[in-house]
Amino acid sequence: MAGRIPRAFIDELLARTDVVEVIGSRVPLKKAGREWKANCPFHGEKTPSFTVSQQKQFYHCFGCGVHGTALTFLMEYDRLSFPEAVEELAGRAGLEVPREGGSGPDARDRHLDDLYALMAAADQHFRDSLRDSERAKDYLKRRGLAGETAARYHLGYAPAGWDVLLKKLGATDAGRQALQDAGLVIERGPDQQRSSGPGHYDRFRDRVMFPIRDGRGRVVGFGGRVLDQGEPKYLNSPETPLFHKGRELYGLYETRQELRNIERLLVVEGYMDVVRLAQFGIHYAVATLGTATTPEHLNRLFRVASDVVFCFDGDRAGRQAAWRALETSLPLAKEGRQIKFLFLPEGHDPDTLVAAEGREAFETRIAGALPLSEYLVGHLAAETELGSVDGRARLAELARPLIARIPEGVYRELLLDRLAREVRMPAPRLAALLGLDNDGGAARPSRPGTEAGSRRSQPPRASTGRGSLVSQAIARLVQSPRAAAAVAAPEALRLAGDRGLAVLAELIEMAQAEPHLSSAQLIERWRDRPEHARLAELAAAPLPDLEPAAIAAELAAAVGRLAAEAGPERRIDELIHKAESEGLGEDEKRELRELQQRAFPGAGTSD
Ligand code: UTP
Ligand code: MN
Repeated sequence: MAGRIPRAFIDELLARTDVVEVIGSRVPLKKAGREWKANCPFHGEKTPSFTVSQQKQFYHCFGCGVHGTALTFLMEYDRLSFPEAVEELAGRAGLEVPREGGSGPDARDRHLDDLYALMAAADQHFRDSLRDSERAKDYLKRRGLAGETAARYHLGYAPAGWDVLLKKLGATDAGRQALQDAGLVIERGPDQQRSSGPGHYDRFRDRVMFPIRDGRGRVVGFGGRVLDQGEPKYLNSPETPLFHKGRELYGLYETRQELRNIERLLVVEGYMDVVRLAQFGIHYAVATLGTATTPEHLNRLFRVASDVVFCFDGDRAGRQAAWRALETSLPLAKEGRQIKFLFLPEGHDPDTLVAAEGREAFETRIAGALPLSEYLVGHLAAETELGSVDGRARLAELARPLIARIPEGVYRELLLDRLAREVRMPAPRLAALLGLDNDGGAARPSRPGTEAGSRRSQPPRASTGRGSLVSQAIARLVQSPRAAAAVAAPEALRLAGDRGLAVLAELIEMAQAEPHLSSAQLIERWRDRPEHARLAELAAAPLPDLEPAAIAAELAAAVGRLAAEAGPERRIDELIHKAESEGLGEDEKRELRELQQRAFPGAGTSD
């Protein structure tokens, strides 16, 4: 492959592309007001919540949360890599993709490409070795795995021996280093004499190998199981440039290969559970890799399906893990999504249970799994004395912080309803009592009375803290880059030493330097940076539908406030400088007066 694609070309490409056309040629879009709508192609739904904005050149699904530019869409929908998506759009626009340097990809990309290739070679090696090992094949047979299932999941075998893989793929120094970077070989510690033998050895020896594949089917890591007894039972790849345990889901790639329409995903604990369920025809199971479910996992799950069922062993450890998964899920619970919990009988895991009772019975269990709301209320109710008023009050208090983590919306309302039934109180009253009512109780006559009756309840948390003010400013900016034109120089933001403020400052600069950037162009400039996902999210966040001038005014006000908080002295200097050079508007004059009063309370006595 040739060199890096210049950023200016991506800008031009997006300027010549219409996201409505790109998506419209794959998904039937209907005009709805200023935007376009469709049934979301990334999750099953009957009423359209997938929205494409021509103005922003951005799409967003209110049901499953996917969002992005025309490039993101091609990457997700056509499963293309970024350069492939660029090629695709360039082809449509009749443009040739230029490459910087032309001498090849930069060192980092080249290294990643090498690692992927190495993982693929290792995968092939393990599969070949399985074919040659009667012992390993016997083991899988004893575990009840058919050859077809093993092939579908690319199961393999790492032969016994300290340097089988090392010899095969690490003949040169560079090769050995790459194997080490890929987590496949380990360097001996300083205490293990280097002169007395090889400096490196294979990580996986005499284990059944489960390759972990990313969304595009590339092997990024492995899990290896001992054949007999031995510790650890499962050995996993370490964190590498390709593999991040808290992000990957074992079996997701295979599920997407197998099923055209994924309505539901079942989250189980083990590799063997995933593989065994698939063998019984349940192809929608995925596993976290011996870790608790992370928000990143959940985001990935909900991008694929709107219905997620967590499956846990019925023992104490399983119940603890389930409650942790519930807590992680709360911020992601919203309408259109279903989150359920399935507890298995003690002594069983999905592998043994599906073998014991078959697919149909197992799927009946899945269908009867506990909805998040039931689990939450039921779990807390079990800890309280519901027969007494005090007990019910305690239940409400235990539930409050949990419900507060659910985004405002229908889902939260439903949960409040459910809780209200348990507490035997009208839902609006309970919400007000807990400080969880949406409108802050503004026009609610019952509020003063209820407040007096509940000393312990907290007022609703203000939603305009500084953190969210930064987000609000960034959301406005990425959605209406032109609004940046009216904003005063953000020097104070950059110097504050706060990441969010620095990002805001950089965005303002980008948007001011090129006043015609679309949201999509602005977001694409961040694709390789850690903030990209968050910015894309903010570009899709719902905002009040305002005139451009009003958005610009909001943005300017937010930036002014943030800058003032970040460093009043600098902001004062800025404003004075502006007063001297181009003059101040009324708002700015007032801001300067206020700042000076606050910074120099002696009023008027400048020294
Ligand atoms: P389990 O101990 O429940 O194993 O671990 P299992 O999946 O039922 O495996 P079999 O049936 O004995 O073969 C569940 C998951 O926890 C992680 C693995 O991802 C495993 O699949 N784990 C477990 C480890 O990472 N290391 C271990 O030593 C054990
Ligand atoms: Mn098991």
